[in-house]
Amino acid sequence: MKTAAFVRRLQACAGAAAVGAALCGPATADEVDTGRSKAQICSVCHGPLGVAVAPDAPNLAGQPALYLSAQLRAYRDGIRKHEVMSLMAKPLTNEDITQLAAWFSSIRVEATASR
Ligand code: HEC
Repeated sequence: MKTAAFVRRLQACAGAAAVGAALCGPATADEVDTGRSKAQICSVCHGPLGVAVAPDAPNLAGQPALYLSAQLRAYRDGIRKHEVMSLMAKPLTNEDITQLAAWFSSIRVEATASR
């Protein structure tokens, strides 16, 4: 792992600990439920179950909470830039991010090769 990626990973875990959430452990049912209701606005593009409905939006279902929260922090903090996502992430607190990541990562996905 490159140093920068490792530092970001540590920051993601430390930030989550600061708001009392267990990003580096399993998410609580409360975090998942709250994340689900906060994610309603996201479903316009990412779909109600995290499978994207907009052609330019990625699937979020089943992605690791660590990855999702790192991306949301990166958008919010201006490290990753995107016209829409930078705006969407701007008002998010660390707690919102932990809950949203808990919800999307809790969705079970099944992958099947087409041949
Ligand atoms: C209007 C459409 C739209 C809405 C609403 C929206 N997104 Fe996105 N989202 C996108 C697009 C487009 C991208 C790809 C951006 C890029 O290329 O960086 C993206 C990327 C992301 C990523 C990065 C995924 C990856 O694989 O790296 C995350 C995480 C994410 N969105 C979470 C959310 C959350 C949480 C919300 C609600 C608070 C939300 N988005 C609302 C369109 C949207």
